[in-house]
Amino acid sequence: MGMIEDHLEIKPPEGVPVWDVDPYDPDILVEPSSYYAELRSKGPFAYIPKYSILACGRHEETREVFSDHERFVSSRGVGLQDFHLKKPWRPQSLVVEADPPYHNKTRKVLMRALSPKATGALKERFQQAADALIDELLKRGEFEAIADMAEAFPTSVFPAAVGLKQSNKRALIDYGAMVFNGLGPDNELRRKSMAMGPDIVPWIAEQCRRENTSDDGFAATIFAAVDAGEINENEGEMLVRSLLSAGVDTTVTGIGSALWCLASFPEEFEKLKADPKLVRPAFEEVLRYTSPVHSFCRTADADTRVAGIDIVKGTKILCVLGAANSDETKWPEPERFDVTRRPMGHLAMGSGIHTCVGQNLARAEVAAVLTAIVNKVDRIEFAGEAEWRPNNAIHALDKLPITLS
Ligand code: HEM
Repeated sequence: MGMIEDHLEIKPPEGVPVWDVDPYDPDILVEPSSYYAELRSKGPFAYIPKYSILACGRHEETREVFSDHERFVSSRGVGLQDFHLKKPWRPQSLVVEADPPYHNKTRKVLMRALSPKATGALKERFQQAADALIDELLKRGEFEAIADMAEAFPTSVFPAAVGLKQSNKRALIDYGAMVFNGLGPDNELRRKSMAMGPDIVPWIAEQCRRENTSDDGFAATIFAAVDAGEINENEGEMLVRSLLSAGVDTTVTGIGSALWCLASFPEEFEKLKADPKLVRPAFEEVLRYTSPVHSFCRTADADTRVAGIDIVKGTKILCVLGAANSDETKWPEPERFDVTRRPMGHLAMGSGIHTCVGQNLARAEVAAVLTAIVNKVDRIEFAGEAEWRPNNAIHALDKLPITLS
């Protein structure tokens, strides 16, 4: 068998329908809901000939593949490229693109750096920053919320939380978009993102060095693990890089999508205002409803079987988290955004040993912004049409004109 998109070309397994679709078509990336529904209707898996992959979107099988790190590994890449067959475009992540036992070591260090205690200590600082930002935006009334709120907030608090001595808002955001576009096929989105590499990658690598970080952020905890002999200096820098890769674009997307949900469903915003304790469950529903990470891959590391389907070693499986999070067999009326739903088991933060290690931080950032909105804002209205931005792994807004009063 040959190669396609830098992974093994496979035959459609018996019992799996062939579906002539391009999951990376910009129209689908921008408005994926009918693609999600059709994928689920095909069965546990569909074979997509354009990329010779299996795709899964029903909650049960998506969770099974995504969380079974023994059969479906991450070390061969969580995008379409199989790192056993093709060298990755940047040094492989030591966390999200690693398997146990090595992953246990790096994950432990990041869990310590991003512990509930470490992120809890930032709560007050986040709330002050969010209150000041919402006060300023209320004064302006109308604004473009992706640049002025969703990007503005994380880039004002996250670099200091990591302990970066220098910050560059654009480079941090563009690097995240690049890493996520890099998980897709060799399409225009990927090529355009990769073209930014020479400008951004050296800057990012430089910020990850110990001398460019302070002694009171997450990076300091990582370098303390270097001093304790748990990891070496290069591993320390690579773990700081993991925070910069995964910690900006995702929270920017989470905040933008939360605001979009509240503007789209004013009655749900009213519920939130009536009961601010719903802020955290409401964000879980935003995650389920909008799935900021729409899909990531796994690679079968042995011949195996899922839902009665034979899967051969080397198969790339596109786990469509957005489809799983809107599976009607798991969530009654999945198309309804409901701040009281408490959607336990959504896959927006992953599942299993790779579950988002930055989730405490993401939740703390978004909770600060939503709390400021709930306390200070009476009405959220669209001031123009919202536009989504295609990305090979992230479902994010590009433009969100908003009026706050
Ligand atoms: C709304 C915000 C976020 C979303 C939706 C999100 C989503 C995810 C998902 C789906 C995974 C699982 C990947 C996999 O299993 O292959 C993941 C892992 C990860 N996330 Fe997040 N994330 C968010 C915020 C953050 C933040 C703020 C950070 C860091 C500061 C972060 C750092 C990481 C890292 C390092 C991993 C890899 C963990 C591992 O492999 O053990 N994420 N995230």
